[in-house]
Formats: sequence, structure tokens, C-alpha cells
Amino acid sequence: MKILVTGGLGYIGSHVVVELQNEGFEVVIIDNLSNASLEVLDGITAITNKQPTFENIDLRDKPLVTAFFKKHQDITGVIHFAASKAVGESVELPLLYYENNLNPLLYILQELQKKAGAHFIFSSSCTVYGQADELPITENAPMKPAESPYGNTKQIGEEIIKDTCKVSPNLNAIALRYFNPIGAHETANIGELPTGTPQNLVPFITQTAIGLRQQLSVFGKDYPTKDGTCIRDYIHVVDLAKAHVTALKRLIKNKNTTPFEVFNIGTGKGSSVLEVIAAFEAVTGEKLNYKIVARRQGDVIAAYADTTKAKNSLGWETKLSLKDALRSAWKWEQKIRS
Ligand code: WQD
Repeated sequence: MKILVTGGLGYIGSHVVVELQNEGFEVVIIDNLSNASLEVLDGITAITNKQPTFENIDLRDKPLVTAFFKKHQDITGVIHFAASKAVGESVELPLLYYENNLNPLLYILQELQKKAGAHFIFSSSCTVYGQADELPITENAPMKPAESPYGNTKQIGEEIIKDTCKVSPNLNAIALRYFNPIGAHETANIGELPTGTPQNLVPFITQTAIGLRQQLSVFGKDYPTKDGTCIRDYIHVVDLAKAHVTALKRLIKNKNTTPFEVFNIGTGKGSSVLEVIAAFEAVTGEKLNYKIVARRQGDVIAAYADTTKAKNSLGWETKLSLKDALRSAWKWEQKIRS
């Protein structure tokens, strides 16, 4: 079965391509290389010994999307990662985010609607919940007004898919709401490649430990949490990747109960920033240079997943620990700086 993975050379996309190939799927990647490098294709091939087909297409160009689906009529499934994802940047450049994160979604869905049967997996985010009133967060938690255009594009994206699936009997979809993906493939052939200064915690930690960054700034230690720092649900990117294959198989086997389903994909455990730092120091033996600074605007206090639905309905749960993820992140950082 031939599957299109858009943004398939990106951090999460590349790990999903590996797991799809491991399960025998034929994969076509579309990526416009705006936030990924072609070397990732070699990394994937080094792991699976199968080079996925790659096409450098900007999905904002509707005629190119139509031409692609005409050329690959045998694609029956799409896993859609291609999008801009920097929360802060989205506040500065809202129109870029609305165009890049929504127009390609429309064009792909228009093509899938024409098919006799199609399966669609959407990369969504726990960002849609904002600061949830109850923890752990279930899929029934209300979507709060988005705090950034990025978060808004995930909320709007889910609504677009839901409305489309309602009127397209041949199209079924699942949105996976990720918590915080971290780590890298155990082979260190693929991993996170942040461009410029990392916004996310774990790449900043590994770049500080390797000496690329002087010091980690911990954004606030005055939150109402166990140690005053924010709590998140850090999930190993390989566990997250496997959730995509499980979700795709659910649709292929028609096991979905509604045309559009949503699952929270997390470990179900919350870890504070200081706990992540301590875990990193424990697994690597590296002493991390950090300082406490002011809070970062827009941060929620705590977010971690209720994993009941993913476990009982999707039939997926995490297998890897925070320490496994941090160990793999460190191995990857050392590999790419060697
Ligand atoms: C985690 C914690 C920071 C960097 C992001 C995206 C979100 C989603 C998941 C896409 C927070 C603290 C961080 C640093 C720090 N991605 N921190 N110093 O903000 O939970 O969510 O990833 O869907 O959209 O925003 O992740 O890694 O940025 O921050 O203290 O240098 O680490 O304050 O408490 P976040 P993060």
C-alpha cells in the first residue's frame, strides 16, 4: 500500500517514514525542504535499506498538488506533517502560518475526496487545549481560544477535516494530538535538526551539554507546581511515530467508529523542567549549566495526556521512558556534532 507522507523529511515525519517502511508500506515523501535537509533521506535509507520516493513540492501550489495525485493515483493514505510549527514566529507572521498550514490541507483533502477510498492522518497538537482546566487531559477537554496563530491552525485544521469527512463517505481521518515529542532513532541516523536557536527544551539541553550553547535558561521557577517549573508530557518520537502506523492501520481495517477521530498521544506522565534536567544529567553524566530566568510568555503551567482512549480504543501506548528519549537525544547530538 502506497502512503504519502508530507513533511516526511522533518523530525517527526522522518521517524514515521521509518516505521511505515518497517511495516511494509511503500512511502512517497513530499517536502519543500524549508525546514529539513535532503540528508534525512539518507538517514532513513540507512535504517530501513529502502529509499523512499521523494518529491520536492511546495504544497501551497494547488496545480502541483493536483498533478502529484494524478501521477500517483495509487496513493490511498496520507499522513500530513507539512506545516510551520514555531509558536512565536506564528505570532509575528500570521498570514504565512494560515496560508502554509491550511491551504495545503485543503488541496490534499480535495484530491482525497475524488478517490474511491482514502485514509488521512493529521498531525495535531496538545496546543489545541491551551491550559486545560483538568489534568490529565482527555480528548473531551474543551479547545480553548488558541494563544497563537500556530495553535489556531491546528484547531481550524481539525474542524476542516471533521466537516469534510462528514460529507465524504469514502474519506476517514484521525487527528493525533501530540504532547511533547523528544529524542531520536536509536541508530542516531535521524533526529531533531532545529534551525537556529532551538525553541524547545530538549534540543537546547543537548546543545548546551555539547558546548554549542553557553547556558540553558529555565523559563520560570515560580509556577504552582512541585518544583516551580512547568510540567509537560515528554514522549519519545519513536513511540509517537508508531502511533501513526497504528492509527493508519485502524482506518485501513475500518476499525474507526466515526469518520473523524481524535487521540491524545502522550506518555500520561508529567515531568517538570528541572526533572528533565536531572534525568538528562543522570543518563549522560553531564552536568548541565542552567539558570532560572523569567517566565516565557504563552507557556501553560502543566499539560500531560490522559492515555485511556489511545490505549483502549486505538490500542497504542508508549513503551519508551523519558530517560530512553534523553539518552537517544544525547547520542544524536554527539553524532551530528562529531
Ligand atoms: C517545554 C518547557 C518551557 C526551552 C512546544 C510547542 C507546541 C508543541 C510541543 C507542536 C516549557 C521550558 C523551553 C528553554 C525552558 N509543538 N523551556 N527553556 O512549549 O511545551 O510546546 O512543543 O505542536 O506547539 O510550543 O515545548 O520544549 O518549548 O517547552 O525552560 O530554553 O520547557 O518554558 O515549560 P512547549 P518547549
